Amino acid sequence: MQKEDNLKEVISHAKEYGFVFPSSEIYDGLSATYDYGQLGSELKNNIKSYWWKSMVQMHENIVGIDSAIFMHPTTWKASGHVDAFNDPLIDNKDSKKRYRADVLIEEHVNKYAAKIEKEVKKGIKRFGDDFDVDQFKATNPNVLRNQSKIDDIEKRMAETLGNDDLEGVRNLIIDLGIVCPISGTSNWTEVRQFNLMFSTELGSVAGDAAKIYLRPETAQGIFVNFLNVQKTGRMKIPFGIAQIGKAFRNEIVARQFIFRMREFEQMEMQFFVRPGEEMKWYEYWKEQRINWHKKLGLGEDNYRFHDHIKLAHYANAAADIEFNFPMGFKELEGIHSRTDFDLMQHEEHSGKKLQYFDHELNKSYVPYVVETSIGLDRMFLAIISSSYKNETLEDGSSRAVLSLPPALAPYKVAVMPLTRKEGMPEKAREVMETLKYDFNCQYDEKDSPGKRYRRQDAIGTPFCIMIDHQTMEDNTVTIRDRDTMEQERVSVEALHGIISEKVSMTKLLK
Ligand code: GAP
Repeated sequence: MQKEDNLKEVISHAKEYGFVFPSSEIYDGLSATYDYGQLGSELKNNIKSYWWKSMVQMHENIVGIDSAIFMHPTTWKASGHVDAFNDPLIDNKDSKKRYRADVLIEEHVNKYAAKIEKEVKKGIKRFGDDFDVDQFKATNPNVLRNQSKIDDIEKRMAETLGNDDLEGVRNLIIDLGIVCPISGTSNWTEVRQFNLMFSTELGSVAGDAAKIYLRPETAQGIFVNFLNVQKTGRMKIPFGIAQIGKAFRNEIVARQFIFRMREFEQMEMQFFVRPGEEMKWYEYWKEQRINWHKKLGLGEDNYRFHDHIKLAHYANAAADIEFNFPMGFKELEGIHSRTDFDLMQHEEHSGKKLQYFDHELNKSYVPYVVETSIGLDRMFLAIISSSYKNETLEDGSSRAVLSLPPALAPYKVAVMPLTRKEGMPEKAREVMETLKYDFNCQYDEKDSPGKRYRRQDAIGTPFCIMIDHQTMEDNTVTIRDRDTMEQERVSVEALHGIISEKVSMTKLLK
């Protein structure tokens, strides 16, 4: 299946089964905004829980907060978002389509990177385990030629974007022969900067004084509470503050389903460290975060790191964890070394000291910060798109299955009576009663067993329990595994242990 077709199928599957709906659909929707349905919100809550448990509960030196979306407007002046939270935009005069100039260039660079990957794959196929990828990349003429092109483009992009040289960015697009994917022409406008923050007015007063912003990142709510949390929580450096919450950005090119939205959710953690130790912690968090992802079992090859070329105005080092989405490798999470930029700026703009007294060093300083920032909606898309499969079975029939990590599945168990007679529904309810306090269960008695199994496969339920004639005689049931489709007969008493073993989050967290 083509990857783009996979995205289309995922979108329609997500809608059909109550995961994600276009927002205000009865009014034809609102672009780049989506609503999570009954199953989507369960999956989302489970992702949040995995993140929160692993970041907050598994670290004695990390605590979580929940700050307001609206913040004093000076926050955004101090953070640099009023002046520098811009995207460089360019329009194609023929198609009238608008693009982010840096994304057009990055996509062009990706073509050379794909050529290198293709050469490497050929080598691996030919020589197997004996193939030395590093040596190949360092010596193969085709790889070296493509790598040199990538390096040249990235250097020019970093220079032009870094110096706000918008004409230089446009020249780079022209020189590379980048054309609009719709019109196929290079009839480009000038490049312009566009601020991404949404603004509104506070109360009844209009005008600049009352202008407030919808936060474009949750991080600033953490920075302004740095001392509140440090003092009341008696936190000692190094320590972290985490939060999950909504963020808003007026994205110009908002597309690809829930990948790029105007209203989305972030899971962010700011880790406060001694100045000079930030690179050690930056490397530490890069490793921690990639491990968190890999434990989900979505496929280790689906992740890669990408170092930022153009650093955000606050960072001295930054890398993305990219995921192999249906649209190719794209940013899923960012790990940023934010220096002391934010706290210093808030000190300056608020006139309040935001320093930490380090007893070991016997001095005060403004801590440095390493941030991990992941989009919850992107994580949702990564999980659902890589778990979705349309399988042809041995008997020639097909099934749509969501092989979700069991700990994240909306329902862990479906409990089904074989028929609606002979006391089976009552027995099924009785079994469900023993499970529902620990596992999200669904009761299902409608249609044939085969149809019911398909329905549960399609929503990713790891286990189906069937109450049948034998249950009524010996208190055993069949338990069917979503992935293998195998059924096993077990006693009702054993169910809790079997399910718990497979769906528990503990294994992911350890
Ligand atoms: N506090 C740092 C920060 O906000 P970012 O790289 O701009 O950094 C962090 O955003 C993460 O938020 C991204 O890696 C992505 O997963 C998610 N994100 C950013 N913009 C988004 C959008 N428009 N829609 C969905 N997720 C988005």
